[in-house]
Amino acid sequence: MTTNKTFTMLKPDSVEKGNIGGILEKITASGFRIVAMKLTQLTKSDAEAFYAVHSERPFFGELVTYMTRGPIVAAILEKDNAVEDFRTLIGATNPAEAAEGTIRNMFADSISENAVHGSDSDENAAIEGAFHFSGREMF
Ligand code: RTP
Ligand code: MG
Repeated sequence: MTTNKTFTMLKPDSVEKGNIGGILEKITASGFRIVAMKLTQLTKSDAEAFYAVHSERPFFGELVTYMTRGPIVAAILEKDNAVEDFRTLIGATNPAEAAEGTIRNMFADSISENAVHGSDSDENAAIEGAFHFSGREMF
C-alpha cells in the first residue's frame, strides 16, 4: 500500500549554506505538497536511532556528528508515488553520481554532507514523520 507521503530533512549543511529556500523551491516545483514542516535539531540519540541501520559502518560517528551539529528542516511531503519520486528528485547518495538537476547535484558537496534525506519506504516515511510531528501539525 502506498501512502503518497514521504519524509525529508534538509540537513545541517543546507541550513548553514542558506539553501532552505532554494531546496524548497525545487521540491514544490516538482509537485510535492508540504503537509508538515519545522526547523528543529536532532539530539545524539535521535540521530543514532534514525541511522541505526548504519551503526556498524565506519562513517557512523561522523554521520551522527554531522546530523546533530545544527538545525535541520524536517518536513512531510505528499505526491502520488511520493517515496520513489522524491528519491529520484534528490539523486544518488554521492552527489558526484547524482543526476544533473537533482537536489544533491545542485546543493550537496560530498557523500558525507549530502544536503537532504529522503525516506526509503512508505513504512519508514510513516515512522519518521510521526517521530517529528503530532497529528495537529500535519495539514
Ligand atoms: P539518507 O538516508 O540520508 O536519505 O541517505 P541515503 O539513503 O541516500 O544514503 P544511506 O546509505 O542511507 O546513508 C545515510 C547517510 O550517511 C552518510 N554517508 N556517508 N562517508 C560515507 O561513505 C557515507 N556514506 C553515507 C550520508 O549522509 C548518507 O546520506
Ligand atoms: Mg538512507
